[in-house]
Amino acid sequence: MNLLITAGPTREAIDPVRYLTNRSSGKMGYALAEVAARHGHKVLLVSGPTSLDLPPGVDFLPVESAADMFDAVRNQIGKADAAVFAAAVADYRPAAPSAEKIKKTSETMTLELVRNPDILGSARATFHFPGVLVGFAAETDDLEANARAKLEKKGCDLVVANDVSRPGIGFDSDHNEVLLVYPDRLEPLARDTKDRLAHIILDAIVELHASRA
Ligand code: CTP
Repeated sequence: MNLLITAGPTREAIDPVRYLTNRSSGKMGYALAEVAARHGHKVLLVSGPTSLDLPPGVDFLPVESAADMFDAVRNQIGKADAAVFAAAVADYRPAAPSAEKIKKTSETMTLELVRNPDILGSARATFHFPGVLVGFAAETDDLEANARAKLEKKGCDLVVANDVSRPGIGFDSDHNEVLLVYPDRLEPLARDTKDRLAHIILDAIVELHASRA
């Protein structure tokens, strides 16, 4: 299979020295890329800035902002049999990033934000991607219902959902505990390392791909 995987956070520039970002470490996406390459799949990793080493045998397209990631995915998704969106894309970016470093002048300051493009949401709707589409959902409540709503809205074959309100799993952790949400069923996976979960998720993707062929 040809796999496209997005991973990591995005950085949204405020000025040349400041940006908005989030706590994503990129570990889940990198673990998936590593496992997939080890199993002989061709992997393109489109990643925001992380401190992780690039897994062996993985093609790499580094990006910074959500807009960069959107462009990279638009250009590359046509080659993929399966696309896995593990990135924590910033939903908003500063409306008017400053070309010069912003100096402190007043006691308060207001930053106007505008919506970023929904990359996963564009896969079917805009890029007309026909392959296996996998999204991630990070939720603090109503895990299954929120993940299922995302699955349906974005036309996914699978949403990997995790509860980010629980300590010791998810963001920035080596462990995760996820719920695989399919259009017609649900499969809870017990707490495990992101590497072992990546194996199970890859198997699920291979199965979805085979059932389409
Ligand atoms: N995603 C994306 N592009 C965005 C935002 C999210 O590709 N601009 C992808 C993520 O990689 C992930 C999924 O969409 O696979 C997460 O869905 P999203 O609706 O963004 O989740 P939340 O931001 O948590 O949504 P909400 O704020 O509506 O809960």
